[in-house]
Amino acid sequence: MQAPRVLVVSGSARPDGQVVAVVEYAVEVAHRAGAQVRVHDLSRLRLPLMEQDAVEQGQLPPVRTVRADAAWAEGFVLVTPEYHGNMSGALKNWFDFLYLELAGKFAGVVAVTGGGGGDMSLTAVRNCFNWCHGFTLPYQAAVRPGDFEEGRLRPGGVAVDRIARIVFDVCRYAPVVGTAFEQARRLGPELASGVAGLHHDDPT
Ligand SMILES: Cc1cc2nc3c(=O)[nH]c(=O)nc-3n(C[C@H](O)[C@H](O)[C@H](O)COP(=O)(O)O)c2cc1C
Repeated sequence: MQAPRVLVVSGSARPDGQVVAVVEYAVEVAHRAGAQVRVHDLSRLRLPLMEQDAVEQGQLPPVRTVRADAAWAEGFVLVTPEYHGNMSGALKNWFDFLYLELAGKFAGVVAVTGGGGGDMSLTAVRNCFNWCHGFTLPYQAAVRPGDFEEGRLRPGGVAVDRIARIVFDVCRYAPVVGTAFEQARRLGPELASGVAGLHHDDPT
């Protein structure tokens, strides 16, 4: 079996924040799971603010990277800081450059909060991925300040356990869902193709 292709997205605009520590751990686990891994660090990618009519944005290197890597990936681990009970603006802007690239893909979601439960931001990210016709894991992880020790995730804690399960599950289910979606898409627009039939005109 081919190594699953996983894209880990760091939704923080702060390059040395707690989201980065979570992303580093997720990457480590994805490698342990045998995945090929790419990372989008939105604090470094310098994506412009998406403008719907500015088609020339599609030629900018960061936009091309985001679209190409999202198309390449089967699985996603999306890590957002919770900002005002929501995902970060940087992560929402990343989503706004994407649509078809996420259809039939599979994601796990992690939120890093300043103490809140994270449900709102986790739900926001999941909704957005589902709106792009992607599938998401039925559970998630919220990481709070007490889960960190000297800037890294506390070993043996609940957070590392849960994040590892999410990453292993993304690596496990993403290829299965992706294969089923591609098979369904080949059926064309007929009802039997389900959600994939809505993307029948974009065979890759
Ligand atoms: C604009 C802003 C809004 C925030 N809103 C929330 C919030 O609604 N709930 C919460 O628990 N923490 C909130 N926080 C705290 C961040 O989630 C927390 O600091 C997190 O660690 C940020 O990720 P980072 O360390 O990678 O930058 C907010 C922080 C900022 C800057």
